[in-house]
Amino acid sequence: MNRPPSIKDVAKTAQVSVGTASNVLNHPHLVSTSTRKRVEEAISQLGFVPSDAGRRLRAGNSRLVGLIVLDIANPFFTQSARGIENRLALDNCYPMICSSDGDANKERKLIQQLASQQVRGVIMTPSDKAMENIRLLQRRKIPVVFMDYPSASAEISTVSVDDETGAATAITYLLSLGHRQVGFINGPKNIRQARARHRGVIEARNKVATKVDIFEIVADHFDATSGAHAARELIRNHPDITAVFCASDQLAIGAMRTIRQLRLAIPNDISVVGFDDIAVASELITPLTTIRQPMNELGNTAANLLLSDTDKPRHISFVPKLIVRESTAAI
Ligand code: RIB
Repeated sequence: MNRPPSIKDVAKTAQVSVGTASNVLNHPHLVSTSTRKRVEEAISQLGFVPSDAGRRLRAGNSRLVGLIVLDIANPFFTQSARGIENRLALDNCYPMICSSDGDANKERKLIQQLASQQVRGVIMTPSDKAMENIRLLQRRKIPVVFMDYPSASAEISTVSVDDETGAATAITYLLSLGHRQVGFINGPKNIRQARARHRGVIEARNKVATKVDIFEIVADHFDATSGAHAARELIRNHPDITAVFCASDQLAIGAMRTIRQLRLAIPNDISVVGFDDIAVASELITPLTTIRQPMNELGNTAANLLLSDTDKPRHISFVPKLIVRESTAAI
């Protein structure tokens, strides 16, 4: 279907009369709950926009840009979102932010809602099934940019930071300080970034001739609470570690809390490295050594690509940078 769906299409899909479908929109109290749910599912599935809103939005003059991040509570995404917001404002556009948690079904439902709003475009940190989920947007000619995701397909512009290089840089730095028993607190492997950072850690370890033990533990979520729990298990199972690399600053903040609760000193007993360089990383009691992702540039670049309206996809990758602070020291 190239033309935007009509109320007739909705009625046909829901197997009700046009009058009933119209009542669901204008007089829902006149329609039974089961019938109303069927019509609402048809509206969501088709991406139907009621005619008055459709006229206003169908010309593609919406000022809203959908932003689907993995977790709005993670400062990496809110700091990146600020870069997006600042760039959109120059074109009198505004972000509408939501979290998918990396769940493909949740991401699909969010996309259906954004499509029905006929947003100007969508910037998203994609789930593993995003290429399938964005077909609805592509049918509606709504542009998409993948942020925090390397070049996945020639048809979608992407902006990312090289996760493997970032993780390898963290491990190489700890090895240069003499650490040979290193913990690695990673995020859940259904998240692409966790898989990429795992590859970077292995790559760095395999580059050195000396014997190095790296003990990976996978946290339940990319957050501080999960980092604290993972650190407790890691140190209980491997009490001889002298350093830990965490796949995000939030994981590192949780790990630092556990290390102190165990009456261990940072960095003299255990050095800690994070990933992101969120604003709070430099403000901690022991400022965190971390791998900086240029969040503002990531967001600004993603918004620029979206608003450029070019048909030719572009893939822009930033090199992450080691930021050394007080949470690391030589053996
Ligand atoms: O969402 C998990 C992680 O991936 C974030 O902490 C940030 O590092 C992103 O790249």
